[in-house]
Amino acid sequence: MTAPTKIAVFASGSGSNFQAIQEAIERGELNAKVELVVTDKPNAFVVTRAKNFNIPVLALSPKEFASKADYETAIIEALHECHVEWIVLAGYMRLISEVLLMAYPQRIVNIHPSLLPAFPGKDAIGQAMEHGVKITGVTVHFVDEGMDTGPIIAQAAVSVVEGNREATEMAVHKEEHVLYTKALQQLLK
Ligand code: GRF
Repeated sequence: MTAPTKIAVFASGSGSNFQAIQEAIERGELNAKVELVVTDKPNAFVVTRAKNFNIPVLALSPKEFASKADYETAIIEALHECHVEWIVLAGYMRLISEVLLMAYPQRIVNIHPSLLPAFPGKDAIGQAMEHGVKITGVTVHFVDEGMDTGPIIAQAAVSVVEGNREATEMAVHKEEHVLYTKALQQLLK
């Protein structure tokens, strides 16, 4: 077997997608190694999850940097130190600038809880329910400068549970955890 692909997972929140990826790696379903979890929110639950797996965390607050370019440059230095090859965004709530995009061309992916191009941006599940769609879903895509706009890699549909946001969210997240792992299996081969 070839050496595991070195990845960094970027997250700002709960980190359930990070955990699903790490568990897939531990089950031997994904030939990768999470070298670093990067967060812009030092108190996010993803930090606790990473520590439970003994995975190093880089928690940098963008406010502490003079510019976004400086913030991303500091991240890139840490990624290079760990020889990270791919960046996996999993609930990272910031747009990626050209500094990171140029450092990892065609090597940054994201997961979004809708069938893009429908409902980009924040609260995609809320947007879908508000709109009254019956089917929503999950998209894995390459990252570009836009908000959830890069080329689509994989999608899966999820039925909306009418009037029940919690149940819809649960169904979407469950599908995310499956689809992200599958998409990464293909990409990192
Ligand atoms: C997911 O719904 C993902 O699609 C979106 O942010 C959420 C992150 O969830 N980009 P978690 O932090 O992985 O639990």
